[in-house]
Amino acid sequence: MTATLPPADALVFFGATGDLAYKQIFPALQSMIGHGHLDVPIIGVAKAGWTLEDLKQRAHDSLTEHGGVDDAAFARLTDQLEYIDGDYSDAATFRALRDRLGDAQHPLHYLAIPPTLFGTVVEALGSSGCADGARVVIEKPFGRDLASAQELNRTLGAVFPESCIFRIDHYLGKEPVENLLYFRFANAFLEPIWNRDHVRSIQITMAESFGVAGRGAFYDEAGAIRDVIQNHMLQVLALLAMTAPSEHAPDGIRSEKARLLSAIKPLRPEDVVRGQFAGYRDEPGVAPNSTVETFAAVRLHIETWRWAGVPILIRAGKCLPRTGTEVLVELRRPPIPVFDREHPADPNTLRFTLSPEVELALGARAKVPGETMVGENVELVARHHHPDEMPPYERLLGDAMRGDATLFAREDSVEAAWRVVEPILGDATPLHPYEPGTWGPSEADRLLGRRDRWHEPKGTRAT
Ligand code: BG6
Repeated sequence: MTATLPPADALVFFGATGDLAYKQIFPALQSMIGHGHLDVPIIGVAKAGWTLEDLKQRAHDSLTEHGGVDDAAFARLTDQLEYIDGDYSDAATFRALRDRLGDAQHPLHYLAIPPTLFGTVVEALGSSGCADGARVVIEKPFGRDLASAQELNRTLGAVFPESCIFRIDHYLGKEPVENLLYFRFANAFLEPIWNRDHVRSIQITMAESFGVAGRGAFYDEAGAIRDVIQNHMLQVLALLAMTAPSEHAPDGIRSEKARLLSAIKPLRPEDVVRGQFAGYRDEPGVAPNSTVETFAAVRLHIETWRWAGVPILIRAGKCLPRTGTEVLVELRRPPIPVFDREHPADPNTLRFTLSPEVELALGARAKVPGETMVGENVELVARHHHPDEMPPYERLLGDAMRGDATLFAREDSVEAAWRVVEPILGDATPLHPYEPGTWGPSEADRLLGRRDRWHEPKGTRAT
């Protein structure tokens, strides 16, 4: 359904000596090669005063630490690998790249570099001819508010058409997130109940039991709302709540996602509770008086006929009791209780556990054996576990090489998501402290309806 591009015939990655390359890109490249999915020249670019041999050594170190070296695939990786050491603001770097690209007609340029350098690199790709027939891959953050996202989109759009811009939100490359989309539209039983008449509320929780894990300087510029709610969480919500795409609509899935995101009402301060875990300000790289949130809970409203009035709660935070991401869809109760009259039974639920386990569960009531008509909660659970599940970076890089943009964030949905969070960015709302190992500040309870409680994802416990 998404218009596809021809397969890429060279893979260029800027920031070859950096952190992202070390943690994600080399493992993804080795694995793609191992699966027979990557047999084109791979050109690393960076300014580090390095040689190709240094880069190969770096690749080896990266793989030793992240996933292990596969000797055969690694040998092929080093055969395919080339390196250009040069400054991004020097035209000679891009002349060298143009030469190195040789006959390649459709190179992929992966910008694994800080966003402040995107403009310089993209313009130089354009003026050197390296952008001709090419596509570009960038990483979040896609701006830090609506204006900077629009500015970034203008910068990219001045050189690459939107169909050639691949924005990675790694959540969209996760198997369980794709399964959510699949489950919704491959089963007919869900659609009749997937609306305000039957769904009472939706909760999405992304809990992490760890803190900022050495990324204090980065995190202190972002905070939970920019780091995960504007992107991962809203993208998951879009997949959960969007209308089925038409087979004939161009780029159907992404268009329906964008439509859903643009129907979410921009958040008002009263719909948000921000928290910061005690001790955050002592983290290296964090300002001693930082007011950046490490926890955020928001209550959203989607203004469509399908979802009007259904409360949607999203909660994300660091240093919570568990690590796990879960979606809970609560259905309305039976209109008149036939049983359990004195103690209204729990409503039916649909639970999608996205991590660490992949689970899909239907929560229902069943009778406890015995004389009385008393029930208990039961769950019908489908569990998926594939030991060789493809990690998100490999999946997404492979799709970008093949030219399939379905799982990438499109300009309009990125901007629509910024419009949702724009009014509550920064210090627009108070910050409440919470103790590490708790479910965030108790003030978050005020977002709940009278009979609601926060759903706690299963997850893994902090060690
Ligand atoms: C990243 C955020 O995008 O996603 C991190 O910057 C967060 O703060 C991470 O921890 C979570 O992703 P995953 O795949 O590790 O669950």
